[in-house]
Amino acid sequence: MIEKCKLIEFPQRGDERGHLVIVEGNQDIPFDIKRVFYIYGSDRDVVRGRHANYNSEFVLINVAGTSKVKVDDGTNKRVFNLDRPHIGIYLPKLVWKDMYDFSEDSVLLCLSSEHYDAEEYIRDYDKYIEVVKKIKK
Ligand code: TYD
Repeated sequence: MIEKCKLIEFPQRGDERGHLVIVEGNQDIPFDIKRVFYIYGSDRDVVRGRHANYNSEFVLINVAGTSKVKVDDGTNKRVFNLDRPHIGIYLPKLVWKDMYDFSEDSVLLCLSSEHYDAEEYIRDYDKYIEVVKKIKK
C-alpha cells in the first residue's frame, strides 16, 4: 500500500505577475475533491494527523512553508518532505499518517475525496494494525 503514496507535481502557469499552480480534481489528483481544510500555526514539535481513514483519500500541499509527512501501512514507513507549493503528496485510504516538523510559516492545504465523518477515522494505532492485518488475510 505504501507504494501508492506518491508525490505529485502540479501544473504551473505562472508568469511575470507571479506564480499560479493548478490542482484539478480527477485530473491532477486521482479523486473528486469533496472537502478542503488547511492547517497552520502548528509549532515545530507538534505531531498532527496520527490517524488512518477507512474511506478518505487525501492530497496534502504545503502552499506556504514546509512540513514532513510520515506514512505507515503497518509494514513499511516512509517520510516525505513537503517543501514546495507545487508539490503534493497523495495518500490513499487506510494509510497511517503523521504530519510534523512544521515551519513557522507552514500552511498545509489538505484536499479530501470525502466529506468529514469522524466514524471513518482510525485514531488508535493498535486498532489500525489489527484492521490492516485483517485486510491482508
Ligand atoms: P484532526 O483530525 O485531529 O486534525 P489533524 O488530523 O489535521 O491533526 O481534527 C481536529 C478537529 O477538527 C477534530 O475535532 C475534528 C475536526 N474536524 C472537522 O470537524 N472536519 C474536518 O474536515 C477535519 C479535518 C477536522
